Amino acid sequence: MTPNSFERELEVAERVAREAGALLEEAFGKSREVEYKGRIDLVTEMDRRSEDLIVGRLRAAFPGDDIWAEEGGGGRSGAERVWIVDPIDGTTNYAHEYPVFSVSIGLQAAGRLVVGAVFNPLLDDMYSARHGGGALLNGRQRRVTEVDTLERALLATGFAYDVSTEDDPEKNNLGPFARFIRRAQAVRRAGSASLAIAKVGVGRTDGFWEGGLHAWDMAAAMVVVEEGGGRVTDYRGAAPALEHRELVATNGRLHAAMLEVLGMRGVPTGVTTRGEN
Ligand code: IPD
Repeated sequence: MTPNSFERELEVAERVAREAGALLEEAFGKSREVEYKGRIDLVTEMDRRSEDLIVGRLRAAFPGDDIWAEEGGGGRSGAERVWIVDPIDGTTNYAHEYPVFSVSIGLQAAGRLVVGAVFNPLLDDMYSARHGGGALLNGRQRRVTEVDTLERALLATGFAYDVSTEDDPEKNNLGPFARFIRRAQAVRRAGSASLAIAKVGVGRTDGFWEGGLHAWDMAAAMVVVEEGGGRVTDYRGAAPALEHRELVATNGRLHAAMLEVLGMRGVPTGVTTRGEN
């Protein structure tokens, strides 16, 4: 990788995320056009408008870079640098006027995630980071928490869109969810993975796990966690791969305990899942 502090890239990512966020905020509660990509997985007119804006701005600022965006608006040519974009992370929330969603813009350079901006327009919260620059919340340096027991930990997770058709509780997350909710102080499932992951990096929550994620749900927020002093791995503790679709993100201190709970199988006594009664 050529020496680069990625300051300009972060500045552009934040500016474009804010611009797309303003577009989404303006249309929040007004846009009713919904199409289904799958039985549950939906896409709105606003996903496309937000993505068009982001892709246009990134192309203009960095013409040689590739763009990998959720709704397919970018293009991959094998460039060394790839922008990874979710134009609305929390589309189901957005379509239901449930006020939790974000715009997520990450940059991978020579295979390494180096810039991330995750913007929550309704709260005007910008979670951001560049390699070596620390994690920022609204421009101020933040760090992960020091919580070191699950009993004191606020965790977050999410469920992939196949939760209604996948019966294995280890794959549909109902098994891990049941185990964590009995051990942690609390578990949240707010519907925007990038926001939930970025919160770990700035010390608003202590840990996150989810299987079934896409690269655009996690790339930008992973930079925030790493730069905030946290740890990101797959469920087995190995370096996470964007294509492998699973992530554990913690303040570091909780990582081993979370991997241990993920590695157990089954649901605690008294909890039933689909197909059991
Ligand atoms: C979804 C959200 C949700 C997570 C799903 C994602 P989308 O992203 O991040 O929290 O549980 O796995 O697919 O579809 O709203 O961009």
